Amino acid sequence: SRSVQLAPSILSCDFARLGEELQAIGSADWAHVDVMDGAFVPNISFGLPILSAARRASPLFMDVHLMIESPERYLKAFADAGADGLTVHVESTKHIHRAVQQIRELGKKAGVTLNPGTPLDAVKPVLADVDLVLIMSVNPGFGGQKFIPESLERVRTVRRWLDELGSAAVLQVDGGVTPANARAVADAGATCLVAGSAVYGPDGAQAGLRRLREALAV
Ligand code: DX5
Ligand code: ZN
Repeated sequence: SRSVQLAPSILSCDFARLGEELQAIGSADWAHVDVMDGAFVPNISFGLPILSAARRASPLFMDVHLMIESPERYLKAFADAGADGLTVHVESTKHIHRAVQQIRELGKKAGVTLNPGTPLDAVKPVLADVDLVLIMSVNPGFGGQKFIPESLERVRTVRRWLDELGSAAVLQVDGGVTPANARAVADAGATCLVAGSAVYGPDGAQAGLRRLREALAV
């Protein structure tokens, strides 16, 4: 079986202690950074200043998930603020292909994603051009929601498409990932799991990460 990367989402961390909260996930592969604009999704999280603070506080790969309208307006700003990867929603732009090209021109890893209600075909035109495909397993906007079970079949389908292409792109899953379902998500073909509330729980991020790793080891 493939080895699975973990990308804790700092959306669920204590922002008053951002530096320590990033240190606590220092053993993870990536830090997942959820940017929400209150228009593409019904919530506002944070933007450029928090990303650049996270960048200064941690050497982790900054995996930036843009839940904003017309993300092409801000790709360069997020790249300059310290993003290593930028993931854009097909529903958020009229020109997903152009947005992906722009991310690559900025020298960053390019990701594409889609909401649970969007047909998977929407990612096909850019599948060969991306470094990452993110399957959303909740409706984006909030941490702590329940995993949508139909997402597993969507992961299997994109796994097959990537394998057919011979693509080594990361297949990421985001939303409601817990120790109870992490193994099943990985078995469906995901290579990177995002987890917010399952990592930044009451007993701290190190314990949360450990529980996810134990669940994946079986
Ligand atoms: C949801 C975000 C997720 C969120 C995941 O809109 O994209 O990254 O932080 O949180 P959990 O793991 O709690 O579902
Ligand atoms: Zn996310």
